[in-house]
Amino acid sequence: MTIRKDQGEPTSLWHDLLSQKISRRTVVAGATAAAAAAAAPLHLKAAYAAPAEQRSASLPFTPLRPTTVDDIVLPTGYRYNVVTHYGHDLGDGQTVGFNHDWTGFYPMDMLEKGVDTRNTYNGFLKSNLSSTDGLLVVNHEYVNPMFVSGYTGGAKSADQVAKEKLAVGVSVVRVKRNADGTVNYVLDSQYNRSINATTPMLLTGPAAELDGGPNAIGTLGNCSGGATPWGTALSCEENFQDYATPAPTGNGWEPATYGKRHYGYVVEIDPFDKASTPRKHTAMGRFRHENVAIRVGADGTVVAYMGDDRNDACVYKFVADRKLTDASDRAGNMTILESGKLYVADFQNGRWLLLDYDAQARLRDAKKTDGTPAYTSQAEVLASARDAALALSATPTDRPEDIEVNPIDGSVYIAFTNNTAHGNFHGQIVKVVETDDDVAATTFGWSVFAVGGPQSGFSSPDNLGFDAQGNLWMVTDVSSSRLTKGIYKFMGHNSMFFFRTTGADAGVAYLFASGPAEAELTGISWTPDGRTMFLSVQHPGEESKSMTELSSHWPLGGSAMPLPATIAIRGFR
Ligand code: FEO
Ligand code: CA
Ligand code: CA
Ligand code: CA
Repeated sequence: MTIRKDQGEPTSLWHDLLSQKISRRTVVAGATAAAAAAAAPLHLKAAYAAPAEQRSASLPFTPLRPTTVDDIVLPTGYRYNVVTHYGHDLGDGQTVGFNHDWTGFYPMDMLEKGVDTRNTYNGFLKSNLSSTDGLLVVNHEYVNPMFVSGYTGGAKSADQVAKEKLAVGVSVVRVKRNADGTVNYVLDSQYNRSINATTPMLLTGPAAELDGGPNAIGTLGNCSGGATPWGTALSCEENFQDYATPAPTGNGWEPATYGKRHYGYVVEIDPFDKASTPRKHTAMGRFRHENVAIRVGADGTVVAYMGDDRNDACVYKFVADRKLTDASDRAGNMTILESGKLYVADFQNGRWLLLDYDAQARLRDAKKTDGTPAYTSQAEVLASARDAALALSATPTDRPEDIEVNPIDGSVYIAFTNNTAHGNFHGQIVKVVETDDDVAATTFGWSVFAVGGPQSGFSSPDNLGFDAQGNLWMVTDVSSSRLTKGIYKFMGHNSMFFFRTTGADAGVAYLFASGPAEAELTGISWTPDGRTMFLSVQHPGEESKSMTELSSHWPLGGSAMPLPATIAIRGFR
């Protein structure tokens, strides 16, 4: 695929495919709008999808208007409290990391009662498991060196690097919900744990032996993730590529360690076993993993949907070899993600392409620029999954962020956040339906569910989360340097939106929450009873010029430095 210049505006195959889908829907919605929509930039095509007058009076909340208040702003009847923030004491000298992202709530009675493996999407919703006592697993994507190590420029000291390494990764925190709906963390040394860039890890699967594996050190770039039906957490390593580069250009973390192909994987963590070694599953491919969404088929086939969050990168599906047939076999189920088939999406033809060295002559024949073979084994294909995907003519897309499965009908929703290089400034949400509703299908259909822009009210969709009724909750990520300016001014701060997925207003965005200055909201998850939503608040005050020129004081207020945190929202019935 080549990026071409079209009438002076950079465009792409993905842009063309989106335009075709949107124009087709416009024709159905009203022929008069079709011609105008076909010629309009992508975000202007949203107009047909979001008629404000159709907005329903039966929403569970009164939508907000966009705001730039330096706080979490919620509709009447909803309140929040901070559960855990950067620097929080985890006991045993460990502390909670920086820039909170994915969250997962693991009920404390899960191992004892077992889980309904068909019904464990996004936080074990609708199960009979505890909503008042659990382990909250929280990702920490990256550090702001000024806030974490006091770094202000030049080379980093060993002390600064050491501090920063402890502030990425994953925290496991015991939490309890009180009678008033607030949730507080508990100092519980049996479970509380910091998994960070110094924690011993194990690589599994075909690429485990590369670069001195299978032992690896630490996890980093932990963006979003997913819960497995067997009660483990999957944490996704996203922007791993800058750690080996010396500061100030990169993070300056020991190139000898961090330059190896041991990062860029899905990491499986058992939150109930503090002594367990987190495992990186190479069979699921190495790329800038945003998140992972598991779906289990009627026969126990386990699949995982994953996005590669970078410009012109692809959407993947992993189909595990081992089926999930016995929920009580936790140890056995923890091997499910170690082996399987990795596919990548061809949106032009609605096909899942198998990323397999032996099965694909195009991978065996692919050459580097110097004429030598690009890959000599499946391990190398998996470790360079993006390049291998493009060699198979998979579709380069506009930064796939979160992917989630609708619990009602099994359809798969993908947030394509934006790709300013192609003039896609506000992003889209796409819905994928597997052929015959077969999780292992090698063909699929897709449509555009919602289009970002001033007409729909949102820009740059990032994390998604379904509630038990199949409503979609979405948070935005306009980068803090662009937020509240120019074409992004209409949205106010980064926010959370609610969508119905069926009915007359399916795809219409309703504003539910607005975040603090320069923050993005991340990591939507729920207690099983659906009454508490956990949400992370990442990089508040990210553009602060110095410790005395802070652009946010959330959550402590006054003159305090801003703190990334995870909050609990109450008010859901
Ligand atoms: Fe870490 Fe793609 O957001
Ligand atoms: Ca994200
Ligand atoms: Ca971000
Ligand atoms: Ca993002």
